[in-house]
Amino acid sequence: MLVVNLVEELKEKIKELNGSIGFVPTMGALHEGHLSLIKKARDENDIVIVSIFVNPTQFLEGEDLDKYPRREKADKKICKLANVDILFMPTINSIYNRDELRIEAPAIRGFILEGAKRAGHFDGVLQIVMKLFNIVSFNKPEKFRAYFGKKDAQQLTLITQMVKDYFINVEIIPCDIIRDSDGLALSSRNVYLTKDERLKALSISRSLKRASKLVMQNILDKKSIEKEMREIMRDIEIEYIAIVDREFNSIDKIELKNSILLVAGKVGNTRLIDNIWI
Ligand code: PAF
Repeated sequence: MLVVNLVEELKEKIKELNGSIGFVPTMGALHEGHLSLIKKARDENDIVIVSIFVNPTQFLEGEDLDKYPRREKADKKICKLANVDILFMPTINSIYNRDELRIEAPAIRGFILEGAKRAGHFDGVLQIVMKLFNIVSFNKPEKFRAYFGKKDAQQLTLITQMVKDYFINVEIIPCDIIRDSDGLALSSRNVYLTKDERLKALSISRSLKRASKLVMQNILDKKSIEKEMREIMRDIEIEYIAIVDREFNSIDKIELKNSILLVAGKVGNTRLIDNIWI
C-alpha cells in the first residue's frame, strides 16, 4: 500500500494506473462501517483509494475538530489489511489555498435538519468532497466510483446532487449502515461515550426499530411514530425526529420504499445521528 500526502504526488501516481477506481473518503478513526465501504470498493474495482483527512471547514466554531479521534497508525494498518492500494492523507497546505472559492449547499436540502443545526457544515463537506473527486479522478476516463454510508443520509443526498449539478464523472454508491451487536450505529464519535451514556444512546436505534415495527403495522403518520420514539428516547436530548422522502423533502407520512426516518440527539456532550430507510 502506498501512502501519499501531497496532491501532486497522488495525481502523478494515478496517471500510471489502469482500470476502475473505487474511492472511499473518510476522516479516519476507521471502524467496521468504513471497512464495509472499503470491502465493497475492493470487490467492485481494480484500484482502491482511501482518503483520511479531518476536514476543518466542515467543523463549526466550538465543535470537536481538536479532539476528533486521530488514529493514524491503526488506520494505516486497517487499510493495509483491507488491501487498499493507495492511502491519501493530504497535508492541509497541499489541499487548501487561502481565500478560496466556496461551494454552498442548496437551500432546500442544505438548510434543514443537520444543515440547520450545523450551519455551514455541508458547505465544508461539499468543498472537500469536490476537491477529492477532482484529485482522485484526475486523468481517468475509466470508471470512477465513490462509496458513502447511508448513516450520513443528508450528506449522501447533497453529494449526489452536487455530482449531478456539476456534471462530475463519478458514480455514487450508497452503503448500508453498520451497527454494533447492541444496535448502536457505528460512528467515530462513539468513542466519546461513557458506559452509561452508551446505554442511553442505544435508545436511538431502539426507537428506530420500534418505528419500523409500527410501519409494518401500517402506522405511517409522523405524529404517531414520533410520539412512541420520543417515549423510548426520553433519557436523551432529542434534536430532531424527521421523515423525508429520498430527495430529502419533508413529509408527514411514510411513503413505503421512498422514505428516510432520521434522528439526531445528544447524549452527554456527544451528538449522534441515526436513520432507517423505509
Ligand atoms: O463522512 C465523512 O467522513 C466526511 O464528511 C467526508 C465525506 C469524508 C468529508 O470530509
